[in-house]
Amino acid sequence: MFSSRTGWNLSPNPFTAALEQKRKSGAPLLDLTVSNPTTCGLEYDAHRVLSSLTNAAAMVYEPEPKGLLVAREAVAEYYASQAMPVEISPDNIILTTSTSEAYSFIFRLLCEPGDEVLIARPSYPLFDLLATIQDVRLVPFSLIYDHGWHIDFHSLRSAITSRTKAVIVVNPNNPTGSFVKEEELRELNEICAANDVAIVADEVFLDFPHKGIAPKSFAANESALTFTLSGLSKVSGLPQMKVAWMAVSGPEQRASDALSRLEIIADTYLSMNAPIQLATPILLASRTDFQGKLATRIRANLVELDSQLVTQKHCTRLGVNAGWYATLRVPVTQPDEELAISLIERQGVLVHPGHFFDFEQEGHLILSLMTPQNVFREGVQRLLQSTNS
Ligand SMILES: Cc1ncc(COP(=O)(O)O)c(C=O)c1O
Repeated sequence: MFSSRTGWNLSPNPFTAALEQKRKSGAPLLDLTVSNPTTCGLEYDAHRVLSSLTNAAAMVYEPEPKGLLVAREAVAEYYASQAMPVEISPDNIILTTSTSEAYSFIFRLLCEPGDEVLIARPSYPLFDLLATIQDVRLVPFSLIYDHGWHIDFHSLRSAITSRTKAVIVVNPNNPTGSFVKEEELRELNEICAANDVAIVADEVFLDFPHKGIAPKSFAANESALTFTLSGLSKVSGLPQMKVAWMAVSGPEQRASDALSRLEIIADTYLSMNAPIQLATPILLASRTDFQGKLATRIRANLVELDSQLVTQKHCTRLGVNAGWYATLRVPVTQPDEELAISLIERQGVLVHPGHFFDFEQEGHLILSLMTPQNVFREGVQRLLQSTNS
């Protein structure tokens, strides 16, 4: 009855089974995997957000496949107002309900069934499902940690075949918090242009740099066909509003052909609703408040983590330049998944094991820096006690 692409193993893995059992027992759990900004004690201006949805213009249905101009103009303005401003025309922007939907449009645009898309390892685990649902094969290339994260260009070049259609770069990457560096961008552009491969730049965490770094968006990258993705989910901390976008850039003819085809894909679904598009300028403007509050929390949690790590011989934190997460390197006495399970069962602390993000080596735990500070402090204390004992 069902397609083979949906033949997933739906039984819980040992980690989720342990978590379910702990939750069922009613025992307290310190959750250091928080990724939902709307439920972690950050305050929003609810009136400003909700009143933006009552624009009377939404009573008229004027479908626009790329999204209403007023919303696309707000997105273009978002790029123009970056610390490193990027100029992009609203004509080159397409709205989608999520970056996940944007990925599915791009895979449909570029790939025949079985075509390949390269993805960094480690990175965010959602991509596996997004690719399988679209009959695309994900092929990993490595990021190497050596005083910061670097693209392993040898592994990237070796991963390219005649079926490679795109390289996904998450900028900054989740969970490593590493940006694509200037010289890496140059090499990536050379490789992609030479092999007729597109770049998909996922920049949902672009606005969350640490320590005064001024990140540069891919949104006007010209050397290769480039799709730059982001959305309100992370930018304004509003995942429930379902507004995302892609900016299309690259060699002129290529970008224009891509836009014409994407417009037809978008027209087929017309998935954006009118109230949310009309509200987009206001919701995007609300990012300043959200990002300020979250940055304060992230900074405080990072300081807390580092102060607890000072006395540790065996645990260290990997360098991080941006984003909502920190990576701990812990002694490899057992697989990460077993360590994470024992932290749930014995310490009542929930963290993600590195293998969840496809780390190539054991010995990594991922902590969310968005966690409320009191939970974070106690969670890290228990975690470090346990890895010491
Ligand atoms: C790197 C990355 N891309 C995309 C997403 C999904 O974003 P959206 O809510 O817009 O689908 C996430 C969610 O955490 C993410 O970490």
